[in-house]
Amino acid sequence: TEWTDALRYQDYEDWSDEYLSNLKTQQRDSPWRFAYHIQPETGLLNDPNGFSYFDGQWHLFYQAYPFGPVHGLKSWYHLTSKNLVDWQRDQLRLLPDTSFDSHGVYSGSALPVDDKLFLAFTGNARDKNWERHATQLGAWMTPDYHVEKLATPLIPAPPTGYTQHFRDPQVFVYEENYYLLMGTQNDAKEGKVLLYKGTSLTEWELVNELHFSSEQMGYMIECPNLVFVDDKPVLIFCPQGLDKQTFDYQNIYPNLYVIADDFDPESATLITPSDFHNLDEGFDVYATQAFQAPNGRALSVGWVGLPDVTYPSDQEGWAHCLSLVRELRIIKGQLYQQPVAELETLRQAVLPMSDLQGVFYQPESNCYELTLTIPADEESTLTLFASAEHDYGFDIHCDAKNGMITVDRGRMALQVNPDFGTSRTMNVAPNAAIELRLFVDGSICELFVNEGERVCTSRVFPKKEDTTILLDGVADNSTLWSLRSIH
Ligand code: FRU
Repeated sequence: TEWTDALRYQDYEDWSDEYLSNLKTQQRDSPWRFAYHIQPETGLLNDPNGFSYFDGQWHLFYQAYPFGPVHGLKSWYHLTSKNLVDWQRDQLRLLPDTSFDSHGVYSGSALPVDDKLFLAFTGNARDKNWERHATQLGAWMTPDYHVEKLATPLIPAPPTGYTQHFRDPQVFVYEENYYLLMGTQNDAKEGKVLLYKGTSLTEWELVNELHFSSEQMGYMIECPNLVFVDDKPVLIFCPQGLDKQTFDYQNIYPNLYVIADDFDPESATLITPSDFHNLDEGFDVYATQAFQAPNGRALSVGWVGLPDVTYPSDQEGWAHCLSLVRELRIIKGQLYQQPVAELETLRQAVLPMSDLQGVFYQPESNCYELTLTIPADEESTLTLFASAEHDYGFDIHCDAKNGMITVDRGRMALQVNPDFGTSRTMNVAPNAAIELRLFVDGSICELFVNEGERVCTSRVFPKKEDTTILLDGVADNSTLWSLRSIH
């Protein structure tokens, strides 16, 4: 298929049932399909949207383009869960059916208010000259998933001085007031975050640009969100075009965070913000959305995929998945991200491992959780997704002495965006044991280091039978669980 604009923005009704059902079959038969990650049934999935707790269950939406592995006419697809692990697929719930969102219902957030869920999102429209018009829109969803869009935009246009790259509203409550964060670009083509205050959910006034750094932030900031983790404000954001002198990153666009001491909404300031950090040290995480769950937990979920690059599953008509849900904590001033405790309910059998050196095990499928510790003075390489002949695989090299971990997908048979580098390195304390916890699922490995001190997500595209786990070096305390499917 040649994905012209006309085709990408074609009405959903104009795609035949047969076309869609062929796409479904391709996805279902894919060797790269996931057992316990949220994935599209067809086409492309991108940003998580509207992550929330409402009416006794968790709600999560994602940006969906159901008709191919490209960014076309977007909607919000809705899922629900009782436990943050098993997700029930509902259906598309926000569709591009008004003049404001004729070219896509773009990203946004949700807030439970009384007996309804408030949705805030970006309406993306293109005029005759294909010029973009961005409006911030609202909708209410009832407990039985009936969605009604508000006729009037929440924010009709970007303020003077900002371009139509103005999207991804995050609504939140702080000290009993409503606030809204926007990702945007100013007329000088610099990435900015704007803070609005709501006199109500439908009336928003610009407070100011959010002050959180003196650095220039590239040409655009997408998906900003402010979440309070153990009482500290953490700003998560995606700058595009960020100078690598400002922050050294390898992915096409990074997903960063800063931790601050405090948040002053009057002056739109994050007080004493930290340096920038990668939220995820791996190859593929973007557009992470975090929110405050009712019991004070800060939860996040990321898009495992990146804009403007291609992936091998594109050939099969589908692309990307969401990360596992993570719980954020601040420990000794540092951000920790752990897979939510509920994920332990995925565990099935403990699998026997032959020994702690050489070939670990050949599970039946790439669907497992593995924990192990590299002792303080050791240097070991764990290889996953290896072929039976061990001639290729995904390497995780741990040098505990020097406190360095390198993940390397350069030895996989199929390369993914090698122009952006085939390995990623992260640092931890030297001369200390390194604890690894890995979630492997079809074509993803989510690695949590030292109880969430570092997280590293990698898409890899193995053959279905390439499940061998190898260890070159020493490791202690290893346990391997097979995990169940949620689909
Ligand atoms: C981030 C993003 C958002 C936008 C959405 C459109 O990946 O570009 O800024 O709202 O995707 O799908």
